[in-house]
Amino acid sequence: MWRQRVFSRVACNILPPNFHRLAFAPMSTQTSPQMLVAVVGVGLVGSEFINQLLSIPVESSPFRLISLSSSSRSVFFEPAKAVTSAQDWKAILSQSNEKPNYETLTEKLSSLRAPSTKVAIIDNTSSSEIAALYPSWLKAGINVITPNKKAYSGDLGLYEAIVSASKESGARFLNESTVGAGLPVISTLKELVATGDKVKKIEGVFSGTMSYIFNEFSTGSPDGPSFSSVVSVAREKGYTEPHPADDLNGFDVARKLTILSRTIGSSSLPSLSSFQSVQTASLIPPALEGIPTGDEFLKKLPEFDTEFDKMRKEASQEGKVLRFVGVVDGIKGDVKAGLEKYPTSHPFATSLGGSDNIIMFHTERYSPRPLIIQGAGAGAAVTAMGVLGDLLKLV
Ligand SMILES: NC(=O)c1ccc[n+]([C@@H]2O[C@H](COP(=O)([O-])OP(=O)(O)OC[C@H]3O[C@@H](n4cnc5c(N)ncnc54)[C@H](OP(=O)(O)O)[C@@H]3O)[C@@H](O)[C@H]2O)c1
Ligand SMILES: *[C@@H]1O[C@H](CO)[C@@H](O)[C@H](O)[C@H]1NC(C)=O
Ligand SMILES: *[C@@H]1O[C@H](CO)[C@@H](O)[C@H](O)[C@H]1NC(C)=O
Repeated sequence: MWRQRVFSRVACNILPPNFHRLAFAPMSTQTSPQMLVAVVGVGLVGSEFINQLLSIPVESSPFRLISLSSSSRSVFFEPAKAVTSAQDWKAILSQSNEKPNYETLTEKLSSLRAPSTKVAIIDNTSSSEIAALYPSWLKAGINVITPNKKAYSGDLGLYEAIVSASKESGARFLNESTVGAGLPVISTLKELVATGDKVKKIEGVFSGTMSYIFNEFSTGSPDGPSFSSVVSVAREKGYTEPHPADDLNGFDVARKLTILSRTIGSSSLPSLSSFQSVQTASLIPPALEGIPTGDEFLKKLPEFDTEFDKMRKEASQEGKVLRFVGVVDGIKGDVKAGLEKYPTSHPFATSLGGSDNIIMFHTERYSPRPLIIQGAGAGAAVTAMGVLGDLLKLV
């Protein structure tokens, strides 16, 4: 099962150096563990990640899962007693009375490093406090892998501390699943840049929630369901945050653009002091800013349906659809997120369904036709795959 997932991803991704050995032959010669893994955050993604990790037969797995933490509980095992059963780990964690202590975890993991043994922490929380620990983990030689966007898209100071801690110790930080979940967006971008291509523009639908909303709301026809009804349905289906304004503010897209822009690291792009420096055109009607609950917000949203209707009609008259997109423009030096119009024949109009993401790279080599990556951009299984794929790059 895990092989299949890894394989489909690899079709357009970088192969880890010993991928073939990993994927195609049981590593009978390899008896000692190579990579000790601690997981912080065992929610949707964390749980799925653990299940995928433990689905690799233990005799051929280079990984040993030695620590689990939620916000209230934590467990730590000696490598010889690592967690091996996908059935038991939840019970083991829920029976623990230990509170997580990240100083102790850092010390323990660091002391287990050896020439043939690497250590990694998977941060599967959405916590800023945990994100702030990355520099200390990296300094201690612990590799960091996460789908959590907070550290890489927050204060420039934290990002710079992460980069320099990683340079100092040689421990690596990987972030594939922060943009497009399991889609190979970061690895593709890194390879384009590393091989000397020049990124002119990246443009895409980066939010699964916004994708769903506009795929339903704007199909090219002048009419359709009201904006508020589409948002309500999206929330009922669990596609939005509990408070839909947390999606409609565009910050998730701004964070992803910050990560892409920092990964390009070009002097022609603005140096973003945080994701808040991205020009973001929020979809929250100004009158509804600051409404405390999602329920109240949804009750008032219909008052603004006519405005959204008008935009849909105008787009339709031009033969276009509305999409909430993010753009990193290396020529103009812009990084921005907002609602744009695209012709009904454009891939943003024709090839998106559900909560798909789509990302177009316009580069010197991929010109005039762009390189396009498209597929599910949210969901535990694909996000966890992105995380496990990163971990495989480290062995
Ligand atoms: N789901 C997706 O499709 C997707 C896609 C891309 C990226 N992501 C990112 O993946 C991350 C995880 O999302 P999720 O959906 O798995 O969230 P989730 O289900 O809410 O899980 C978060 C987990 O983190 C734990 N946690 C929070 N603060 C903690 C702390 N200080 N110390 C230890 N554990 C802590 C929570 O513990 P308790 O259980 O004890 O509260 C919970 O187990 C987020 O950053 C999200 O943005 C998710
Ligand atoms: C942790 O994993 C769950 C699903 O396994 C995912 O929904 C959640 O977003 C992840 N949290 C973070 C912060 O990555
Ligand atoms: C993402 O990770 C790569 C390492 O694979 C790194 O080069 C890049 O700078 C990172 N970007 C951000 C914003 O964290």
